[in-house]
This record gives sequence, structure tokens and C-alpha cells, in this order.
Amino acid sequence: MVQGTCCLALSPLAPKSDRMANPKHILLIIGGGIAAYKAAELIRLIRKSGMTVRCVLTESGAQFVTPMTLAALSGNEVHSTLWSLKDETEMGHIQLSREADLIVICPATANLLAKMAGGIADDLATTLLLATDTPVLAVPAMNVRMWQHAATQRNLSQLQADGIMVMPPDEGDMACGEFGPGRLPEPEAVLAKISSVLESTALTGTGLAQSELGPNPLDGQPAFAPDRHRPLRGKHVLVTAGPTHEPIDPVRYIANRSSGRQGFAIAAAAADAGAQVTLVAGPVHLPTPAGVMRIDVETAIEMEQAVHDALPADVAIMVAAVADWRTDSQAGQKIKKQGAAPAPLKLTENPDILAGLARHEQRPGLLIGFAAETEKIAEHAKAKLEKKSCDWIVANDVSGPVGESVMGGTDNSVHIVTRTGTEIWERLLKMEVARRLVAKISEELA
Ligand code: C5P
Repeated sequence: MVQGTCCLALSPLAPKSDRMANPKHILLIIGGGIAAYKAAELIRLIRKSGMTVRCVLTESGAQFVTPMTLAALSGNEVHSTLWSLKDETEMGHIQLSREADLIVICPATANLLAKMAGGIADDLATTLLLATDTPVLAVPAMNVRMWQHAATQRNLSQLQADGIMVMPPDEGDMACGEFGPGRLPEPEAVLAKISSVLESTALTGTGLAQSELGPNPLDGQPAFAPDRHRPLRGKHVLVTAGPTHEPIDPVRYIANRSSGRQGFAIAAAAADAGAQVTLVAGPVHLPTPAGVMRIDVETAIEMEQAVHDALPADVAIMVAAVADWRTDSQAGQKIKKQGAAPAPLKLTENPDILAGLARHEQRPGLLIGFAAETEKIAEHAKAKLEKKSCDWIVANDVSGPVGESVMGGTDNSVHIVTRTGTEIWERLLKMEVARRLVAKISEELA
């Protein structure tokens, strides 16, 4: 387990003594996919972090993990059927969800998501999901083509509109031999997401009457304080994220390995902090974070235009991995093989969006750039700070082989270089980097 993940996982909400006295309850629904084996590790981590967990196993989930494993790890009986007389007398299926602070579906299969989006209730899992008003977090995992299918994406949009929270899948090699988005995030990352969701639902409420929730976890805490809990309220934060695609012909383009995850996490964290957020996103397969206004673009030129259109902004965080070059001209038809060597591509430099924003008459008050470096991180970052006339550079070390590098991965180690000094944040989940960065921005603007 990486260092940063470990710290976050073990301190999700409150000091350990408080958590022992007033633990959070997770109802974990395990769907039928190869990733179900990761649910076993997730259960162990949830309990280790001081929460309790009760499992509902779908019929197809039971093809991948056994109720015995889940019962042993969770320390609780596992529920699989709607038609258990014993359950109905001792623990009705409505009660199952009522006693939970959060329902987590992990892995959430395409089939489960489709049933939820359609309001189908034909087994224990889908029935209690339809009957509950407890917050629900879905963690999808499936074959890349199933994930990208229009039906799945439509169902996800519907579910998000219905208030279901969705943790996007990772990108990478899949059990089915394909590559792309659809992998279940690692259990440590799912636990970190559960912790942050519980933290935010504790602030915003769950929709249940307090009497139904048991003791109020906020008892004894100071009242909700907008300045502390929503420190960026009233601020406009502009974020760029993802790669850009520079077309060569109608079917080919120049691209890079940026996943967009770090920028999306920053947009989500800024929205959580109360900011009005505009996210200018290159081509990525990530759901839009709640409360964020997203503008999709393809090329660097389109990204620059969208950034200028979004001004004025109080803060701009340029996380996108903008292609340095575009083709000089784009072929109108697919370029054909001709037996001989292809004609060389003529490239032209793209505008530097960050540097242009620094010179813009509506320059944001706080302008933050990112830098991907493979060596002499701090030194190169300081030079970039000057060259681009921005206020901070967040530099990350992208050295390492494909698949293990920060680029496209879930973790990040960063140097924050400002005009007054450098901070180093060792390997953290990208979500945690985002939260810390937003906290630092809030302090700066306070
Ligand atoms: O020059 P380099 O690509 O290393 O700079 C990285 C920073 O500059 C990032 O913040 C990136 O979003 C921004 N950038 C940009 N426009 C470009 C190239 C980089 O905004 N054409």
C-alpha cells in the first residue's frame, strides 16, 4: 500500500477514539464481475479503518466470491435473497439499508447499473437500492466496450442525475485481455472515496430524519461554518484537464497518455469547497464531477478558446497535457498507404494557453501551472514558473515505465513551487493531492 493512501485510509473521519465509539456502517453490494475478488480486500480495509460492513451478494456475484469469505471478513452474516424468512423477521431488507450510513456497490456491473437506472427491483440488491434513501456510491467495473457502450453511459448519466455517486473506473489492462477504462480502482482508492463521501454527507445531510440515523455524528461539533466548510464560495475556478488530440486526417491524431484524472479531481475538490467551477476537458472517459460546469474540447486551439470564453476567473489551474504541436494542415481524407515511405508530417507549435493567460488582460488572480518532469523536478519547475509567469507550479515526476508512471495512474507525488518556496507532497492519491491543493488555494485567497 502506498504511504499516502495508508494515512488517508486509517483516518477517514474523526480521531480513532470517536470512530470506535461511533463507527460508520457500510452496506456493501457485490455484483457479478471478475473484480468481485477485490471486494474481499475492501471489506478488510473498511473494518481496519474503524467502520463496520455488512454484505449483500448478488446471484452472479456469488459466482466469483463465496458468502463464506465475505462473512468471515466482514464478521457479519451475508445477505443474498429477498425471500429469506429469517432475514424478514430479524432484519428486513429495508432495515438493511436503513442502518447503513452509505451503500457501496462494488463492483457495480453494467447489468446492475442498467437495472438501477430503469428502476427494476428483481432481487435483494436492486430492491433495497430502489427502497433506500441512504446515499449510494457505485464503483463500476466491466469490460471496456461495455463501459463505453452508449447504453451504459446513458444509464450512468441517469443515475448521476438521480443522485447516485459514481467513482469512475481505472484505465489499464483488463482481465478480458483488452486495455482501456473499466478496471475496478484499487481497494485503497475505493476506501479513500468512501471516506470522502462520508465526510461530505456528514456536512450536507443524507435525506434521512436524524432519528433514523441514530446518534448525530456532528453532535458536539461546531455549527456548519460556510467560511470553513465552503472556503471557495463565490469564487470562479477554471480548470483544464486531459490531453488534447491534434488531428492528422479524419481518423488519426497526435495524443498523449494523460487520463485527465488529476484535473477532474481538482475540479471536484474545488466544487466541494463551494467554488463555481468551469472544467475545460480534452478527450477523456471520465464522468463530470458533481456541481462542475464541463466544456469538452478536442484540440489545443479549441481549449484555448474555451479558456478565454470562461474568463473572468479568480483562480485558473492548468492541468491539461496540451499537445505542444499540431499538424500544419489536416488531410481532408484518410491518408492512404502508398508502398513507399509516408510523406513527413509537418508540425506547427500550439499556443501556450498558460503563458497566454498570464499575459491576458483578465489574468486570473492566482494562476497555477502543472509540469510533468522526469528529472531535476524542483529546478525545472522554478524555471517554468518564470518562463510562464504563473504564480505556482505543481510539478510531478512522470518518470517510470508505461503503466507505473503518474501519467494515467491513480497516484501522484508533487513539488509545489511558489515564489516563496517549495513544498514536497510524497506519493498520494490524486484525489488527496487535489484536496490539499484546494486547501492551499483557499488559504491563499482567505
Ligand atoms: O511547457 P509545459 O508543457 O511543460 O507546461 C506545462 C504547463 O503549461 C501545464 O500547466 C499545461 O497545462 C500548460 N500548457 C498550456 N498550453 C500549452 C502547453 C502547456 O497551457 N500549449
